[in-house]
Amino acid sequence: MDKRIDLKKEQQATLERPGLKYSFMARLFFISFDLLTGSKTTLFKVKLLEILAGVPYRAWEIRQYQKLSRCYGNDKLMSRAQQLMVWAREAQDNEYQHLLLLHEKITAEKLKQPWFLSPLVVRLMVFSYRLFAWALAKFSLRRSICFNAEFEDHAERSYAEFVCEHPEWEEQAVISPLARAYGEFANWADLLRRVSLDERDHRNRSFHLCDRARDVVRYDGMPDNFD
Ligand SMILES: [Fe+2]
Ligand SMILES: [Fe+2]
Repeated sequence: MDKRIDLKKEQQATLERPGLKYSFMARLFFISFDLLTGSKTTLFKVKLLEILAGVPYRAWEIRQYQKLSRCYGNDKLMSRAQQLMVWAREAQDNEYQHLLLLHEKITAEKLKQPWFLSPLVVRLMVFSYRLFAWALAKFSLRRSICFNAEFEDHAERSYAEFVCEHPEWEEQAVISPLARAYGEFANWADLLRRVSLDERDHRNRSFHLCDRARDVVRYDGMPDNFD
């Protein structure tokens, strides 16, 4: 991790940043999600969020790959499709890493799984979200990326608030090989602050790609891979 990044400072910046004005579609999604999982943020709730988070990236990756196979003679189109496809793969891997970390934390705490994480409900949710992501990307790729930026903005805030609600995580050391492979963290609070910052990176990149560069939140040590 970049030495310039101060995770506590960035968490505070997330909490203090004025809220984004979400679109009607995003608000509807967040309300429905809260109705299903409850308004309080829990490890289970963010686990479900991570299961869904990779879905649009997969939809874009497949579409861009199809485009590359069709339009290999058009350099400009290819370069844009390639850029989105490469990032979608990276972001998917990153979301999957978040999912594994949450699963490990839940297993370590021996928490009882709620009904909304039963295999059938998860399958239905993933299927519906996949359908939604596919249809939106087909209708308008730009709109689909904007929706993802809102999803990621919401995820960044949820993690930042979640860490505040659990001061005991400041004392819990990160010792598992999986967590250590993600990075060097003093405790679970810092690890989840890093997850929140990953969501900000996804948010920023999405805003950049849907021509809303004004909404990109810059910070010391942020990835410099927008071009
Ligand atoms: Fe994530
Ligand atoms: Fe994300």
